[in-house]
Amino acid sequence: MRRKIAAGNWKMNGTSTALGELVALSKALPLNAPEVVICPPAPLLFRATEAAPEGVRIGAQDCHMQASGAFTGDISAEMIADTGAGFVIIGHSERRAAHEESNADVRAKARSAWAAGLTPILCIGEALDDREANNTLDIIGGQLAGSLPDGVTKTNTIIAYEPIWAIGTGKIPTLEQIIEVHDFIRTRLIARFGKDIGDAIPLLYGGSVKPDNAAMIFEAENVAGALVGGASLKADDFAPIIAALAAS
Ligand code: 13P
Repeated sequence: MRRKIAAGNWKMNGTSTALGELVALSKALPLNAPEVVICPPAPLLFRATEAAPEGVRIGAQDCHMQASGAFTGDISAEMIADTGAGFVIIGHSERRAAHEESNADVRAKARSAWAAGLTPILCIGEALDDREANNTLDIIGGQLAGSLPDGVTKTNTIIAYEPIWAIGTGKIPTLEQIIEVHDFIRTRLIARFGKDIGDAIPLLYGGSVKPDNAAMIFEAENVAGALVGGASLKADDFAPIIAALAAS
């Protein structure tokens, strides 16, 4: 059976009072809960790993590609692992856009995450222009090939498909579009890494996942869970998404 993962990306939201949501979330988890990962802002990582109840794991939202050095303001994968976190989001479209991160940067970040023992949640996704020009699969294929290093195993990487136009907009692709892209990613992974590995890598959907659309999204066979932004900030919103994944 494939892993099921519900990951929350708090982005630049939340101070120490938000840590109470971790406890509230654990109280709301269903018995057969999937893996749950919360990615709070970096200053909260240490306290989040201490506050995280059983069943909730912690990840960061980015790491530097180098192990250490003169990179003022940046955070290495080893520093993240030292907080007790186990995951790191890399290649989020907000970083690709606002920090001009390239596929090569993301590839280097994946390697540094692995070196520190972290599981990267590697994001890819097309812009609205690409979608409207029918270029979605080309863009996704290019990002996948360029961002993912050799060395992927069955368990060391998670991939999140996040169409940029669906992030924070309340718009989501149709189930057919979700199925098409995730099936395409699966095919590419199998072609590159072989059936055993390619079949095992968890694929998450991200972009305006809410309690009322989660069950529909999880109908897609190759969707192993979700990377959730806004609706992960409050346990009351995230818990029903987790429940929908558990029931899928
Ligand atoms: P929203 O769920 O707020 O659309 O954000 C998705 C996202 O970017 C998660 O990384």
